[in-house]
Amino acid sequence: MNVFSASDPDRASGSGSGSGSGSGELAVSAAGLVKHFGGTRAVAGIDLEVRRGQIFGVLGPNGAGKTTMLRMLATLLPIDAGQAHVFGVDVRREPHRVRQLLGVTGQYASVDENLTGRENLWLFARLQGIPAREARATSLRLLEQFDLQEAADKPISQFSGGMRRRLDLAASLIRRPPLIFLDEPTTGLDPRTRGQMWDTIRALVLDGCTVLLTTQYLDEADQLADRIAVIDRGIKVAEGTSDQLKSSVGSSTLHLRLAAPGDLPDAAEVVGRLLSEEPVLTPELGALNVSLTDADQAADVLIALRQSNLSISSLTVQKPTLDEVFLALTGHEAADRTAEHPDPDDPTGSSGPSDSGDSTDELTLEMTR
Ligand SMILES: Nc1ncnc2c1ncn2[C@@H]1O[C@H](COP(=O)(O)OP(=O)(O)O)[C@@H](O)[C@H]1O
Ligand SMILES: [Mg+2]
Repeated sequence: MNVFSASDPDRASGSGSGSGSGSGELAVSAAGLVKHFGGTRAVAGIDLEVRRGQIFGVLGPNGAGKTTMLRMLATLLPIDAGQAHVFGVDVRREPHRVRQLLGVTGQYASVDENLTGRENLWLFARLQGIPAREARATSLRLLEQFDLQEAADKPISQFSGGMRRRLDLAASLIRRPPLIFLDEPTTGLDPRTRGQMWDTIRALVLDGCTVLLTTQYLDEADQLADRIAVIDRGIKVAEGTSDQLKSSVGSSTLHLRLAAPGDLPDAAEVVGRLLSEEPVLTPELGALNVSLTDADQAADVLIALRQSNLSISSLTVQKPTLDEVFLALTGHEAADRTAEHPDPDDPTGSSGPSDSGDSTDELTLEMTR
């Protein structure tokens, strides 16, 4: 997928010096945001600061209040209490100015089914007051940028889920806003399309955009977001980088497998002495697990085992996964995996993304003998 050209003159309008109240580095700042729906406190006092040029991820399960928060920030829902600024502009006082700084995409593509991809983008551009000729050029540029040329003359009703999502995102970028809100941009997409969407989002940021996205997927937040706020039941329960969140809840774990399972008791003794922590043994596999206060301790274990002439067949150091982080912070899992809704429009028929085993968090040494 193509990357924006960075030198488009009309994007200076928003991404420039910001205006108003001196929060120049902040694309979004919110304090004490509250929203009630009848007796439901959908958002119960959330503070948020999103720096320019960041991908900021709001991670939380279904019903956590993610969409409600985003809609308040986007001026699409009245704010019950608290305040919010977008590039220093007050969301409550100057919603019309805020709207000019924002591109918003919904959880589902929101364009007319009977029109073609090209007609849709053209229509959106015209609705935003762009002259006809320029609207045509903009549509072409966006179709190309989002790999939608082939779909240009197909009606939306024939689009796959991934194509719809890309068209939806394209439509939100007509005015090249400096800040983009993406509400669950990959929910229901198959893994390949999801990867393409991630690339697109990264390209937007390389081009100078700031992205605030919501997700229920831990791996998505992990892969994409510079900073993550974990929200649950309308409350922010934690915030930090993925690494900070992981190290806040637990230590790394060392998984060790011995070449000769019979060596396990000796190895357990060596490891126990070194780490002053009792390893957990799995004798039938000749394996042991032990938590580390510091991942570097794995090297000490290797050396000690070598000195005791105990050979190992594999060794893995695993950081806590974001799943474990979420569980530790909230007492329940992030996403009800059985509830992931497959995209009915996706011709591949594949269901939502699976959590990818957090391979990035593992350091594995396979020993060959
Ligand atoms: N328009 C609405 N009317 C009534 N309740 C709503 C409305 N929108 C959201 N809610 C409720 O607010 C809570 C948060 O919803 P939402 O912001 O959609 O969560 P998320 O996007 O994290 O799944 C849920 O309990 C939901 O049922
Ligand atoms: Mg939502």
